[in-house]
Amino acid sequence: MSENCKGKASVSAALDMTPYIDAVRAFSDARTCKPRCFVLTFGCQQNVADSEKLAGMAENMGYEIVDAPEGADLILVNTCAIREHAEQKALSAVGQYKHLKEKNPALIIGICGCMVAQEHRREEIKKSYPYVSFVLCTSVIYRLPQYLFEVMEKGKRILRGEEEHTVAEGAPIRRESTYRASVSIMYGCNNFCSYCIVPYVRGRERSREPAAIIAEVKDLVAKGYKDITLLGQNVNSYGKDRTDGYAFPQLLADLDKIEGDYTLHFMTSHPKDATRALVDVMAESRHVAHSFHLPLQAGSDRILTLMNRHYDRAKYLDILDYMREKIPDISVTSDIIVGFPTETEAEFEETLEMLRRARFDMIYSFIYSPRKGTPAASMEGQIPHEVSAARMNRLLALQNEIAEAANKRLVGKTVRVLSEGVSKTDATTYTGRTDQNKIVFFKEPVMEGEWALVKIDRAAAFALWGEVEKS
Ligand code: 5AD
Ligand code: SF4
Repeated sequence: MSENCKGKASVSAALDMTPYIDAVRAFSDARTCKPRCFVLTFGCQQNVADSEKLAGMAENMGYEIVDAPEGADLILVNTCAIREHAEQKALSAVGQYKHLKEKNPALIIGICGCMVAQEHRREEIKKSYPYVSFVLCTSVIYRLPQYLFEVMEKGKRILRGEEEHTVAEGAPIRRESTYRASVSIMYGCNNFCSYCIVPYVRGRERSREPAAIIAEVKDLVAKGYKDITLLGQNVNSYGKDRTDGYAFPQLLADLDKIEGDYTLHFMTSHPKDATRALVDVMAESRHVAHSFHLPLQAGSDRILTLMNRHYDRAKYLDILDYMREKIPDISVTSDIIVGFPTETEAEFEETLEMLRRARFDMIYSFIYSPRKGTPAASMEGQIPHEVSAARMNRLLALQNEIAEAANKRLVGKTVRVLSEGVSKTDATTYTGRTDQNKIVFFKEPVMEGEWALVKIDRAAAFALWGEVEKS
């Protein structure tokens, strides 16, 4: 892990990018046709949000945003490092751009995001991907204009690992959707779960000012956005770096006061910090969706301790039961890792038992992937892939039964759905999502971005079907 990517202690103000923006725009304006920028995104919603900023900044510097790499003048690959597979996918995409650079030597390729915050990956890019012009770490993505300027002006490669303890406000955002938006409320993570690379590549927790978040959400609501997700690696830690005690439940309550026709989601929550006060705010709110993503990771207390999660089964179930008591129709989703080092068959069974007890509406499940530099990667007792894969199949089979049973309870009920328009797989069907994020199919046309009330007549593990009662 690179020292300079581990985070500096002091908070510094984001640098003013205006001179660089103007300089790059001058390059763009001097061309006969508008330069084109293609952004490719891997990974989580935070990365999607970062990519919207990258595209916004590029647009601001005179680029036209295009949806294919061919013919682009600037390609930005926003990478993920959470599992080995994600990194391999990103590197293979970059590999495919080599021939584009050969055809157009003026093409600038930049790799952004979590992968390049790791020194060994930067070394690999330096040696094996000589056609990549720069790497840009997550906490300094607002410096895109400066990096571009340096590449254009000096023709140099920039392969430094940079991290700032900064909350950079004001970067333009080019939103992909006109009705669904995400708003980062904090950056970084302090938890150091023993398997996870995020604290090393996204740095320490830093919260945005409440006023800036409230202004952004107000603006989105005024523009007609209907579904707004507050993002942070651990949103329940929001405000811990403040001195006035202003925390996530208060932020949620303040956002809920904004008048308008919208729903608020948030993710991700850490069970050690998810409080009853937060559940109470949700229960009393007008706009907060009845849905909660609460990663359990594992069902064995010994494994949870090895994972450095700071909660046990009992604490997890305590907050889960409280949620279900206060908000009976709440949908709870979770993340599970199978095959963590030393996980025994009996301990895996404890995860299955927790699934039966918790009755999650949906889970995201992952086979443990060793991440260089994290404590778990050097633990004895790594689990062979075949063992983890077999456990994963059992986990998925059980979860399918649980999700199907949960969805079947909605048959005969009417749910509110935000339409996503015509289904991508069937032109005769429309699709949308409930406030609880469940996918619903229906035949009646409802415009993308409009609400509809749908009476559910059929349910499976991953989707619901119904008829529109009112739109
Ligand atoms: N291997 C497998 N899954 C991981 N996650 C994080 N790190 C790893 C890893 N090394 C999963 C966790 C987390 C989700 C975003 O990704 O379940 O909640
Ligand atoms: Fe990774 Fe744990 Fe932080 Fe989530 S809380 S980002 S799993 S270290």
